Amino acid sequence: MKVRMPKMDFTQVPIFWAPNREFAQSYNAFSTVPAHIEPYLVKVMIAAKKALDPKHTALHKEMETFIKQEVQHCKMHLAYNEHLVKSGYEVMLPLEATYKADYERFLKEKSLRFNIAYSEGFEAMGCTAAEVFFEELDEFLEGADPRAADLWRWHLAEEFEHRETCWRLYKTLYGSGPFAWAYRIYGLVCAMKHIGGHTRKVAAAMIAQDRQGMTPEELQASEARLAAYRGKVKKATLKRLLQVLSPFYNPARRQPSPGMAELLARY
Ligand SMILES: [Fe+2]
Ligand SMILES: [Fe+2]
Repeated sequence: MKVRMPKMDFTQVPIFWAPNREFAQSYNAFSTVPAHIEPYLVKVMIAAKKALDPKHTALHKEMETFIKQEVQHCKMHLAYNEHLVKSGYEVMLPLEATYKADYERFLKEKSLRFNIAYSEGFEAMGCTAAEVFFEELDEFLEGADPRAADLWRWHLAEEFEHRETCWRLYKTLYGSGPFAWAYRIYGLVCAMKHIGGHTRKVAAAMIAQDRQGMTPEELQASEARLAAYRGKVKKATLKRLLQVLSPFYNPARRQPSPGMAELLARY
């Protein structure tokens, strides 16, 4: 696990960077998540480091690398999102403001335990998303602009790489008993509902903008493309997320997808 600082320029990336425009636009909408969740994760980690006994030196070190990786992810997605807004998608902005305010509220009002459980929920979703991207989406990524595709490949491969950090932190602070397990699942469900709700709204707003002026035939084709992509991702995600529900879940047992190591070696 190490910090990488890729140089990426998104200014010339087409909005519809993959042949399935609704697939591309859905990932464009997902890009608003790291812009806000990752600064939150960094703050949660900083607070958690204060609560974590200094004797856990390896975990402290791992958390430092985790923080640095998330900061790099956030920077790249902010640049990408700026490109989206400049390309005419101001419709994202009010939705992002609400989402950002939620994290400020979580930090102010929720317990450290909640924030770590939520963070671990997100991390479990993140490494699942990484497996799905690397293993299941070839049909959507064929012919895609590599600048946008590689933003996701790099980010998700690092999400997979640091998949154990939050889980280990949660276990170290709160143990592995039945209550700790139930609360970890509660954190996962909260993260899925919150992040899923946000991304659905952003994607719906962006895709609705794209559909303005479409003929009935074009609209039908757009709906079919969106349904094809969503159906594939839903099935692939649910299958992988089930393991996270187990009291014996251990992200260390998840094996890197083919292509992840080669991708990371490039940066
Ligand atoms: Fe990240
Ligand atoms: Fe992460």
